[in-house]
Amino acid sequence: MDVKTEKLENTDQMNSAEDFLPLKGTDYIEYYVGNAKQAAHYYKTAFGFQSLAYAGLSTGLKDRESYVVVQDKIRLILTSPLHSGTEIGEHIDKHGDGVKVVAFWVDDAEKSFNETVKRGAKPYLEPVVEEDEHGKVKKSGIHTYGDTVHIFIERTEYNGCFLPGYVKWESNYNPDSIGLKYVDHMVGNVELGEMNTWVDFYGQALGFSQIVSFDDKDISTDYTALMSKVMSNGNGKVKFPINEPAAGKKKSQIEEYLDFYEGPGIQHIAIATDDIIKTVIELNKRGVEFLYVPTSYYDDVLDRVGKIDEDIEPLRDLGILVDRDEEGYLLQIFTKPVEPRPTLFYEIIQRKGAKSFGKGNFKALFEAIEREQELRGTL
Ligand code: FE2
Repeated sequence: MDVKTEKLENTDQMNSAEDFLPLKGTDYIEYYVGNAKQAAHYYKTAFGFQSLAYAGLSTGLKDRESYVVVQDKIRLILTSPLHSGTEIGEHIDKHGDGVKVVAFWVDDAEKSFNETVKRGAKPYLEPVVEEDEHGKVKKSGIHTYGDTVHIFIERTEYNGCFLPGYVKWESNYNPDSIGLKYVDHMVGNVELGEMNTWVDFYGQALGFSQIVSFDDKDISTDYTALMSKVMSNGNGKVKFPINEPAAGKKKSQIEEYLDFYEGPGIQHIAIATDDIIKTVIELNKRGVEFLYVPTSYYDDVLDRVGKIDEDIEPLRDLGILVDRDEEGYLLQIFTKPVEPRPTLFYEIIQRKGAKSFGKGNFKALFEAIEREQELRGTL
């Protein structure tokens, strides 16, 4: 079955919509976690991030501590509360470790706020200027699904290491990068019947357009099913697939996520690499666990995707999946969840022309997830 590409009906509306919220990319992702210090160490050790910035007691914060790590264009903030009764602590109590903020890099944080709020976004942070000796940053923010928020970051007048209030985090421990480049896409799971609500939200309030949709006939196994639509901003730098569960014989992986996260949230973050074989060999060495794909997947993979540059052996040894669309092919692999609850996981992706999301692999992938659910007793 072919991927459906749906265009918005009114292209004029789409073109003008692209203008009101030009996003220059993902500025950072902030996680609320139980132990930010140890989580930062994990992202350095396992995923090859480097120490970037720190804010906490020693910089004058009383309620939280944040560690920022970086690899190429990807910046992650790991934040923990310093006492009970905080909003951060409540978030962790309810959701476990998870993504709180997906921040966008913009030229005008105030306009981003005004335009999105005017179109129905719920305000999270009124436009505010933060300043230190390195310059100033303007920020604003809106709510999206669940307790997740988007922050708009305007940093044209700032030349510090990260954001005002942060100091450079110097560390003696600097593991090598593993070649992670940028955030390719971030997937949200929302409740049954809510996918279109959030598709409309990204369309209307943020001016995104829908580039792909999958229904339960595309994505189903004997047990599980889901529906998904992919929303993209105008320049394609920010892509958000949104999933909702569909009826299957047993509990879908989306329902499992919603049960354990106790609501909608970010399901996986796909990170791009230029050399997936090298990156995945490194991740394996560093203890990152991936979903197991049966070796039978590789028996007919070349019949399905045609000629590829890579040898099939290392792909099979590492469990890397391959898919092709009209524009090229892609290589991808999925980690197991990276926290005790079966919630957030990562995708490593290398695009060789393909702009799609690996639909041809969904069945193999879902069967792999179901084997894990079976082991957890949640299928
Ligand atoms: Fe993905």
